[in-house]
Amino acid sequence: MNIRQIVLAGRPEGMPDVSHFRFEEIPLPEMKEDEVTLKPLFFSVDPYIRGRMNAGKSYISPFEVNAPIQSGAIAEVVETRSSRFKKGDKVLGMLPWATRAILPASVLSSIDTRLAPASYYLGILGMPGLTAYFGLIDIGKPQEGETLVVSGAAGAVGLVVGQLGKIKGCRVVGIAGTEEKCILLKKEFGFDEVINYKKETDLPKALKAACPNGVNMYFDNIGGEISDAVLAQIQFNARVVLCGQISLYNQSSMSNGPRFLPLILTRSALIQGFIISNYKERYPEGIQYLAKSLKEGRLKYTETHIAGFDKLPEAFLGLFSGQNEGKMLVVMEEE
Ligand SMILES: NC(=O)c1ccc[n+]([C@@H]2O[C@H](COP(=O)([O-])OP(=O)(O)OC[C@H]3O[C@@H](n4cnc5c(N)ncnc54)[C@H](OP(=O)(O)O)[C@@H]3O)[C@@H](O)[C@H]2O)c1
Repeated sequence: MNIRQIVLAGRPEGMPDVSHFRFEEIPLPEMKEDEVTLKPLFFSVDPYIRGRMNAGKSYISPFEVNAPIQSGAIAEVVETRSSRFKKGDKVLGMLPWATRAILPASVLSSIDTRLAPASYYLGILGMPGLTAYFGLIDIGKPQEGETLVVSGAAGAVGLVVGQLGKIKGCRVVGIAGTEEKCILLKKEFGFDEVINYKKETDLPKALKAACPNGVNMYFDNIGGEISDAVLAQIQFNARVVLCGQISLYNQSSMSNGPRFLPLILTRSALIQGFIISNYKERYPEGIQYLAKSLKEGRLKYTETHIAGFDKLPEAFLGLFSGQNEGKMLVVMEEE
């Protein structure tokens, strides 16, 4: 049987485009003992994939040129030589961008589709949801009545951060890039204020108006000028959760921003970066909290679905121009 796969065609300088991805047809290898054959159902596309397209060591190894891109995926077991999974089981794992994959059963986890739809395990009950939960609760330490600002507020992580902030009794101010996203966040997800950074000509002024008591917590998904404006408003003992810097991922050289460290010093603020895998041992706690809050209706969720294997590169690139509301997923069609 032949399958199709998408490989890294070359390393991008700056913003990648579709030419950095190449489609290939290859024979499906033979399955060995303790392996399973997988039919992907949903692929997650995530900002960190951009970092893996670069050469050089980071917290996760780079993709090899001419080798398949990989990302989180939900797949169905279609053949098995493992006692861990039977045919028809739905599993979560890091899969190559391919129409079928053969992987050792040991690198896959089961998902409970009675608890939530399968795709949720790539979003609110998966890596982005856990990032929101541990970043906000463990580092942000929200207190009732405090003001929380979230950048990238309408994305997979930001959407959950803002809602968790509301559950903790905070005033929640989101920053997002379209009017539709701002309306959605206020009407559907309970944010107190949302600023459209693409429309706002004076972001510092808009932030001052939205945060009359200043900023006690900043959950940073974006970095750059948005973060410069938020950091100027931080209060005494503020906590800055450094989750992502997507506005800088495609920059080949780093521009100098304002020097904000004096503010961190005089306001006794804390900035802490983190990688979600730091919390691996505590994932069950996070999933339990998020699943319970979903079930009780205290958390809501949304996904953007792009249909078809061929659309994987475009869906990924769309993250950098804000094409998604909530989690961006590629839904596989029958091949
Ligand atoms: N630390 C960790 O372990 C960890 C784990 C997961 C994710 N992250 C980070 O968290 C952030 C959010 O990830 P996600 O998966 O939830 O992605 P996402 O927010 O669902 O998608 C990215 C969003 O970022 C916004 N954006 C893109 N380029 C921008 C720019 N130049 N300026 C301003 N906004 C921009 C877009 O929304 P707009 O329409 O609002 O522009 C886009 O929809 C990323 O930085 C990611 O790297 C970190």
